[in-house]
Amino acid sequence: MNILSVTIFVFLIFILIGIFLFFAVNLYYSIRSRNCPYIGTSQETIDKILKEAELKEGQYLLELGCGDGRVLRQAAREYKIKGRGIDIHGWAILKAKILARLQNLKNVEFERGNIFQVKLGEAGVIYLFLTREILEKLAPKIKNEIWPGALLISHGFEIPELEKELLKTIEHGGGLPSFQRITYFYKCQNPND
Ligand SMILES: C[S@@+](CC[C@H](N)C(=O)[O-])C[C@H]1O[C@@H](n2cnc3c(N)ncnc32)[C@H](O)[C@@H]1O
Repeated sequence: MNILSVTIFVFLIFILIGIFLFFAVNLYYSIRSRNCPYIGTSQETIDKILKEAELKEGQYLLELGCGDGRVLRQAAREYKIKGRGIDIHGWAILKAKILARLQNLKNVEFERGNIFQVKLGEAGVIYLFLTREILEKLAPKIKNEIWPGALLISHGFEIPELEKELLKTIEHGGGLPSFQRITYFYKCQNPND
């Protein structure tokens, strides 16, 4: 074996290890987030939701379960918001960070974490595309922590616990699965009112 074949052999081994690690880590995160798998909001839907949200420059948009950050990145590009996205899925967060860097978006940050451990803080707008089960568990936290007057957008599933605060709903095209056809907008009042 000459030096060239050894180099090619070692290179191929590294490629194989890389591919294996990629699939192993993806499998690990898929199992961890099996109660709410990663499904990105479609492009057409994001356009419509962001328009309806009437975002203002400098507004703080928090996304719980942000996936690859497509909603936040688009909002930062088109509406100049400040954003923070949290997701349990490490690969999705890595992709979000890389794309934000490539798109030169300085006002959005992405972190790997559990949405139940994130303080809602002074977010003026919160975006969620989660499951009914997760929303049910998240509702008490939202009611306790949401900033008075904040807009909460839940794509796909309503939050019955916030029924009184429902501002409007918007519908999306028929090509989407049924759980992605309606987006619910809630204008949250002071939780103690
Ligand atoms: C349906 S995807 C939506 C992704 C993104 N919001 C979008 O609209 O394109 C739901 C995301 O929530 C994340 N997720 C589910 N449970 C979570 C938890 N407890 N903490 C953080 N992220 C969570 C999943 O990893 C997944 O990426």
